[in-house]
Amino acid sequence: MLARAAATPPAVGSSLPRENHTVSIRGVNINIQGLGYRYSTRGKPTFSNLRLESQRGEALAIIGRSGCGKSTLLHIIAGLNRPTEGSIQFDGKTVDGPSSRWVMMFQAPHLFPWMKVSQNVGIGLRFAGWPEKEKAERVAEALRLVELSDYAETNVQDLSGGQQQRVALARSLVMEPELLLLDEPFSALDAFTRASLQRDVRSIAKRLGFNLIIVTHDIDEAVLMADRALIMAGAPGKIVHEFQVDLADPRQRQDPAVQSMRARLMDAFHAAAQISGSAAQEMEEEAISGIA
Ligand SMILES: Nc1ncnc2c1ncn2[C@@H]1O[C@H](COP(=O)(O)OP(=O)(O)OP(=O)(O)O)[C@@H](O)[C@H]1O
Ligand SMILES: [Mg+2]
Repeated sequence: MLARAAATPPAVGSSLPRENHTVSIRGVNINIQGLGYRYSTRGKPTFSNLRLESQRGEALAIIGRSGCGKSTLLHIIAGLNRPTEGSIQFDGKTVDGPSSRWVMMFQAPHLFPWMKVSQNVGIGLRFAGWPEKEKAERVAEALRLVELSDYAETNVQDLSGGQQQRVALARSLVMEPELLLLDEPFSALDAFTRASLQRDVRSIAKRLGFNLIIVTHDIDEAVLMADRALIMAGAPGKIVHEFQVDLADPRQRQDPAVQSMRARLMDAFHAAAQISGSAAQEMEEEAISGIA
């Protein structure tokens, strides 16, 4: 059994009911209040007074047009950028920098091309000084979760784009994150591969219990992966609508309930694209008070 933080050696036991997994994960309560961010002191704020709360194990999607600040928000939540105003707390503790407890996945998998799959997956544990045996066990478990056990000894250059993204996912999972942040991670993949990764990431997150925050342009992706979808509008960035995505798993694109949720989100997305400034502020207050 392995501890949550990769920098610590393996711990004994786990509080989670699991299916003999060596990867032991729990989610986190996220509380963001009064968030403001400027890239430069004289420039316009990218956000002001943004509020976002998410409960342990929730899968959240953030949808918005290009440039409204989605990636900036994700970087701030990941501790990669410091907020100019406001606070971000995970389980009541202020986020003040990057950590292996919250990891990001990007559009490109950013693997080390000269390494095998297992070496790429174990890189974080290697840097953290894990003993070989425990590291190998956890890497094997992560590869099982992403269904790449047969490729452990393959060079990553010999994998497809979708398989490489699965390696990146396994590399995130070995760190036992409480929160996985995804910035349009599947947008470079073909539709079939994208659909299988969307389904598997949600299913793994639900099985292991960690939070997801998915930034996407793709409304289908939000409906298929999220428990709740937030619509963001820009200048400065605001959350203008939120939708509870109460749909059964596994979700099928052609299911009428999925289609209906998609249509609602699409309407709200187009409405959000029309608004800015004070109108966005009013809509955010409306969404937060649960009207949306
Ligand atoms: N490093 C930077 N320095 C200055 N301004 C930046 C920087 N990165 C982003 N911005 C600006 O901040 C705003 C939000 O950018 P961000 O990348 O967060 O948008 P986004 O919603 O992720 O867009 P996309 O959907 O195209 O990825 C944009 O106006 C952008 O030009
Ligand atoms: Mg972006």
